Amino acid sequence: MKIVVLTGSPRKGGNTDILAQSFADGAKLNNDVEIIDVCNRNVNPCIGCNSCFLRDGNKCFQNDDMQEIYAKLSAADMLVVASPVYFYGISAQLKSVIDRLHTPMRKTFKIKRLALLLTAASSKESVFDAIARQYELILDYFHFEDKGRIFVAGVNDKGAIAGREELQKAYLLGKSL
Ligand SMILES: Cc1cc2nc3c(=O)[nH]c(=O)nc-3n(C[C@H](O)[C@H](O)[C@H](O)COP(=O)(O)O)c2cc1C
Repeated sequence: MKIVVLTGSPRKGGNTDILAQSFADGAKLNNDVEIIDVCNRNVNPCIGCNSCFLRDGNKCFQNDDMQEIYAKLSAADMLVVASPVYFYGISAQLKSVIDRLHTPMRKTFKIKRLALLLTAASSKESVFDAIARQYELILDYFHFEDKGRIFVAGVNDKGAIAGREELQKAYLLGKSL
């Protein structure tokens, strides 16, 4: 499979990046894996004009780095979303990328499988509930297959995730693909 991992933490080399790298290390044994750090890209939010519904190829009028991400997603079989929890949601940078998938162009994509990787400072597992619910609704709406979820609670400082068993779980999840 061609697997695209979208990472959404602006803290370079932080807990989300480390978790996503563990997944990718396992997944690349049998797959072609690309990590796209969306915080290194300039992706504007969707403005809801719906002009993509009318334009040739359903292209968004915004000529920013999302054009590169559309191209990579159109070639992917599986999408992995990796984010820190920011106020019970995913990061704003990642949300911008996901909202830009409003275009009907996405119907040409062949992605059928999803996975979700999350990190949060709180040690309460409920900190992931809102994102997990959104994820389930998206799986249901698009009839995607859930390939796995790894949530790491109780990691705040950069690198606090080191030594956590979830890193091995993420590696094994990747390896299982
Ligand atoms: C703007 C912002 C909002 C945050 N909101 C939450 C939150 O609602 N709940 C929580 O447990 N942690 C929250 N955190 C902490 C991060 O989720 C946590 O530090 C995470 O490990 C950061 O991952 P990173 O190292 O990949 O950036 C927040 C951090 C920031 C910067």
